[in-house]
Amino acid sequence: MTNTPFPDGFLWGGATAANQIEGAYDEGGKGLSVQDVMPRGISAPRSEQPTPDNLKLVGIDHYHRYAEDIALFAEMGFGVYRFSIAWSRIFPKGDETEPNEEGLAFYDRVLDELEKHGIEPLVTISHYETPLHLAETYGGWTNRELIGFYERYARTLFARFGARVKYWLTFNEINSLLHAPFMSGGIPIPEGGVPAQQLYQAMHHELVASARATRIAREVAPEAKVGCMVLSMPIYPLTPSPDDARAVMDADHGNLVYGDVHTRGAYPGYFLRTLREKGIELEITEQDRDDLTNTVDFVSFSYYMSIAETADPAKRAQGEGNIMGGVSNPTLEASEWGWQIDPVGLRLVLNQFWDRWQKPLFIVENGLGARDQLVEVDGEKTVVDDYRIAYLNDHLVQVGEALEDGVDVLGYTSWGCIDIVSASTAQLSKRYGFIYVDRNDDGTGTLDRYRKKSFGWYADVIRSNGASL
Ligand code: BG6
Repeated sequence: MTNTPFPDGFLWGGATAANQIEGAYDEGGKGLSVQDVMPRGISAPRSEQPTPDNLKLVGIDHYHRYAEDIALFAEMGFGVYRFSIAWSRIFPKGDETEPNEEGLAFYDRVLDELEKHGIEPLVTISHYETPLHLAETYGGWTNRELIGFYERYARTLFARFGARVKYWLTFNEINSLLHAPFMSGGIPIPEGGVPAQQLYQAMHHELVASARATRIAREVAPEAKVGCMVLSMPIYPLTPSPDDARAVMDADHGNLVYGDVHTRGAYPGYFLRTLREKGIELEITEQDRDDLTNTVDFVSFSYYMSIAETADPAKRAQGEGNIMGGVSNPTLEASEWGWQIDPVGLRLVLNQFWDRWQKPLFIVENGLGARDQLVEVDGEKTVVDDYRIAYLNDHLVQVGEALEDGVDVLGYTSWGCIDIVSASTAQLSKRYGFIYVDRNDDGTGTLDRYRKKSFGWYADVIRSNGASL
């Protein structure tokens, strides 16, 4: 292949999560997950029960249409597909001792389809879909017992699928826990918020659970490669003042600690200082410390935007659904949802993570959430999504730059390769896909699939291994 910085074997593909695509929320013995009571996304209160206005209950009906969807991914030439397993399909309440066979069988069928098309699976064990029972009865990840339940779940997956799945991710965007406790950690949010002591303890429990999963994989599925998954976001000082630079360092540390623990096996000094200053004393057992030494094989991350940071609280404001906060950067354009578009930031993150951790990196989410319009071109229904092509092209060019910088990148899975329900706002109109799904925010639509213009563009990128960028 001429003129491409992408190495042979670079894994090109797309990514989704069970709760955003599968639907069938009460079929096949599935229990409820926190998402089934989040009809409005992260910024609105949960509902008592699943309500018909919750788009995730039907999703894009992938549970029944997975074969058709995977065939479309294959048509684009995917070499890898990232999806998550719904914990509540395997352990409907989360605390059972035996798994639900119907749930396991569903993912066997998904893996069969992927194998048929020669697509490598990349599986997220927990993607914002903690069983609701664990949230309501145990307080989610604030409770140490969750480590044991997760361990049983992970062991079940490695035992069943370990021979067929090489790449595993333990927790989606593990660093979002403190910012979105119910969605990310099944932690009920009382009036006035979750006390910091409990949040940090929950963070510790997830880190231990993640490390234990790695330990179990080594034993049960020795061929498996286990990675952590973090939400990445370069942070720039709003002004050149040292105070703003210090604010950036603090904010950066708040995100980097997760990767530091996953790659180095212990808490860094700056984090211990944060705990001291907040007056937080974590319960950390000797066993926990030993578990944490099971470090990951690779680091994966999502990348959508960068932010700026300032020491001046009067200047703070954030975009809709931007989990991490921060202040907007006057030099960048933003999407309709206020997410600031910054392709160069992706190169910066790749270099920062590589320099810091020296572990192979996997970009497992990237894309533009945008409103699309279905039109007819040459008698075919499609979306002329040049804006999405431009976003993805610009970001992939920067991945190429990072490869030239010597960064080790295993692959790239663009987010929501088929339109799905948004995580932060629970909309379908915030679309990321190469494939349009006919479903609207009010739940109407045929659920039919249509190839967007970006579908052909991405197929060319994959076919040429990035030379067409
Ligand atoms: C990440 C999540 O935060 O961003 C995904 O891992 C999510 O689940 C994606 O869908 C895009 O966010 P949103 O809110 O536009 O769906």
